Amino acid sequence: MTRHLTRAPVAASPSFSSSGGFAVAILGAAGGIGQPLSLLMKRHPMVTSLRLFDVAPLAKGVAADVSHVDSAARVDGFVGDTQLGAALHGADVVLIPAGVPRKPGMTRDDLFNVNAGIVRDLTAAVATHAPAAILLVISNPVNSTVPIAAEVLKTRGVYDPKKLMGVTHLDVMRARTFVADAVGGEEDGERRRASERPSYDVPVVGGHAGVTILPLLSQTKPFPRGGFSEKEIASLTDRIQNGGTEVVEAKAGAGSATLSMAAAAAEFADLALRGLAGERGAWGCAYVDGGGGSEIKARGLEFFASKVRLGRRGVEQIAGLGRMTPGERVGLEKACEELRGSIAKGKAFVAAGG
Ligand code: NAD
Ligand code: LMR
Repeated sequence: MTRHLTRAPVAASPSFSSSGGFAVAILGAAGGIGQPLSLLMKRHPMVTSLRLFDVAPLAKGVAADVSHVDSAARVDGFVGDTQLGAALHGADVVLIPAGVPRKPGMTRDDLFNVNAGIVRDLTAAVATHAPAAILLVISNPVNSTVPIAAEVLKTRGVYDPKKLMGVTHLDVMRARTFVADAVGGEEDGERRRASERPSYDVPVVGGHAGVTILPLLSQTKPFPRGGFSEKEIASLTDRIQNGGTEVVEAKAGAGSATLSMAAAAAEFADLALRGLAGERGAWGCAYVDGGGGSEIKARGLEFFASKVRLGRRGVEQIAGLGRMTPGERVGLEKACEELRGSIAKGKAFVAAGG
């Protein structure tokens, strides 16, 4: 079977009409990611209830604002701990973009001290009020916040590994963009019409920080005529791995990627919703328990980003890593080494009582 990462137009699946719509909660909805993500989810045809939660009172204003967008979803704003349960009750999908973003010179791991506790507490609320929901964690450092969420759900007795995912889809989106730019530019110096822009699927595996972001350019589909030169592989890999830093530096202290992240999170949430609705072709990349298949399991890594198929129960299939080039194998070693520490750090945080 050919497994293409599913490019995700925000459109209703044919099987959706029988499902009656889904409830989506966004925790951190007043933030840089949360606001545009709220807008995009309001426009999603499968969403009938959108709950916008934040500790900042602005969440009510964001809810009032996006509620004027003409689509089926009812929108409610929730502020503060006392309203968190109501925001989550009955949610099918929960997105967490709550937490602080990077400033220039910081690594994602530098956010751990603040964001670990935020993700821990929000996940505990999910365990209580929406234990069956699909939980999509955006807050950084994803390589550690997802293991934190898993440990919290385990201690509450509601952990379902199929339903917890770290959102790494922005790396896939960047890979598609940068590859299309590179290949398009090489083949045709003229400005293309939008409909002629080449479109590529590039699996990005590993994790979501620096060398753990491992684009498998050799598995690009369709594979570009003439392939990639060694120089192109080096520069594309570097740009994909450092795309987040590129935005952090361009924003010069005012935050990290928000608009592209909202677009990526909405595309990934669309896959999750289409899977819930019973569609069978909803493939994407995410940081999941058991990711990477047997090869990664043999290395003792619990979490790894890889291609997954989303279905009614969440992650229903995890693809193996496929054939990798020697250069990609070198990258895999580096990714695994760093991931081991990030996963252990997240687990230790919960074990120590956070
Ligand atoms: P932001 O500061 O603009 O917004 C964060 C929001 O979270 C704020 O509205 C804040 O009030 C809210 N918040 C803080 N604590 C909360 C809590 N306990 N409950 C609910 N809401 C809470 O930040 P941003 O730019 O939106 O980024 C948010 C996070 O997403 C950061 O950690 C950032 O690093 C991460 N991020 C991840 C990716 C990815 O690819 N996974 C991409 C971009 C950013
Ligand atoms: C990104 O990749 O843009 C995010 O993880 C935000 C960041 O800190 O780079």
